[in-house]
Amino acid sequence: MVSDLAGFLTTCRTALGAAHVVTDPDVTDAQATDWTGRWRGSTPAVLRPGSTDEVRTVVHAARRHHIALVAQGGNTGLVGGSVPHAGEVIVDLRRFDELGPVDAPAAQVTVGAGATLAAVADHAAAHGLTVGVDLAARDTATIGGMVATNAGGLHVLRHGSMRAQVVGLEAVLGTGDAVTANLAGLVKDNTGYDLPGLLCGSEGTLGIVTRVRLRLVPRPAARVVGLLGLPTVTEAVAALPVLRSLDSLQAVELILDSGTQLVAGHLGLPVPLDPLPGCLLLVELGGAGDLLGELGSALELLGQAVTDSAVADDDAGMARLWRWREAHSEAAAALGLVHKADVTVPLSDMPAFVAAVPARVQAVAPGATTLLYGHLGDGNLHVNVVGPAADDDSALDAVFQLVVDLGGSVSAEHGIGVAKRHWLERQRGSAAVDAMGAIKAALDPDGILNPGVLLP
Ligand code: FAD
Ligand code: MLT
Ligand code: ZN
Repeated sequence: MVSDLAGFLTTCRTALGAAHVVTDPDVTDAQATDWTGRWRGSTPAVLRPGSTDEVRTVVHAARRHHIALVAQGGNTGLVGGSVPHAGEVIVDLRRFDELGPVDAPAAQVTVGAGATLAAVADHAAAHGLTVGVDLAARDTATIGGMVATNAGGLHVLRHGSMRAQVVGLEAVLGTGDAVTANLAGLVKDNTGYDLPGLLCGSEGTLGIVTRVRLRLVPRPAARVVGLLGLPTVTEAVAALPVLRSLDSLQAVELILDSGTQLVAGHLGLPVPLDPLPGCLLLVELGGAGDLLGELGSALELLGQAVTDSAVADDDAGMARLWRWREAHSEAAAALGLVHKADVTVPLSDMPAFVAAVPARVQAVAPGATTLLYGHLGDGNLHVNVVGPAADDDSALDAVFQLVVDLGGSVSAEHGIGVAKRHWLERQRGSAAVDAMGAIKAALDPDGILNPGVLLP
């Protein structure tokens, strides 16, 4: 089939206005590369629609002119899903930044897909509410991108992943039809297939999300953050039952001595606990009770397993402690091109997994740097490898093989994208992948939405 880019762009200029059809390479090149720099594509144009009707026009025109599209929000995705790998046209959703009125009785809000997480959280804060998902890319990541990736983040053990926050949505499917599902925010609606649930984690392959009805959660009246030092990951995993028994628990994040030293060098700071223990748990409590007392009683119960700790309950102090965890991504990026993984394994296997990964990587990528950190409370670990060339999958493939052997998952939160496509069938089995293909064919019959992403 012959694609007609000129005809397509003419239709888009008429529908969106010429100012919202960007072909200047100074702009388009930046949007064709991902946050890590590992995934680089090219695009003839970035479209910036401002209404659902305009998105419908774009998708219908793309079908007619045989043009493939890649939806893009904040472009902070880490699996190459937001990048045009084969010259697709980018549909940038960031003009969809409206913030609807907060529905306080329902604790819900309807927002545009291009609103950033930080903007929605600020908007909800005035009503004593917040978004149940939080992540370090909050100032740039959009709600649409977070729905499309079913983002996880720092508070999953308390509020669940993005799918658990989505009450309803509006999207333009690959057919060009706009569907709305429960934008009224009904708590109970059992009328057929769960379209919002299906679009969560669909990575832009089924539809372009335009508006989202989000559930909001109480914004904790106060917070406390503790950085607990433990000798090894074995003690860290053993500490989880005590930590989970805390009513106000909202995060249990793992960092290791090697990562802490890397971040210390990157930020030019002394390490937070001296002597530095082998393993650190960042624990956050949020609520209205005696949070310092709650954390103190947990520390008593954990006894000598915790060799040292730092605790903060003021905003600046808590931000300083969180920085040790959140700066891992940028400290890794400062080392060079990063291969990123977001795996999950059974918690009982976590200590052996952490011990095994660096050797597995060295075996196929001698001299590579391996960095491990993550959301221990969810059994989700990030493996970052710096060293192999951008197109060399061997290091992460060795890690993924170990994950699959342990009965884990090659993606806990970032998705499949293009980075892990070759693992989807091994992970989910051929029948499941066939079912996903059938859904794709029904909702995107011409295969114009994010071709090459997620499905083989
Ligand atoms: P993009 O990167 O623009 O797109 C991601 C995917 O969604 C692509 O496949 C794209 O095509 C699709 N998409 C985007 N918008 C739409 C739309 N409106 N409709 C349909 N499809 C769409 N992720 C986590 O899960 N947990 C974390 O803790 C976390 N921390 C991060 C920290 C840093 C420093 C960075 C850089 C990233 C982090 N991420 C994390 C990854 C990233 O922020 C999430 O995947 C986020 O959900 C992506 O949102 P985005 O708007 O940037 O989407
Ligand atoms: C995180 O938890 O920090 C993110 O998922 C980003 C990353 O993997 O670096
Ligand atoms: Zn993460």
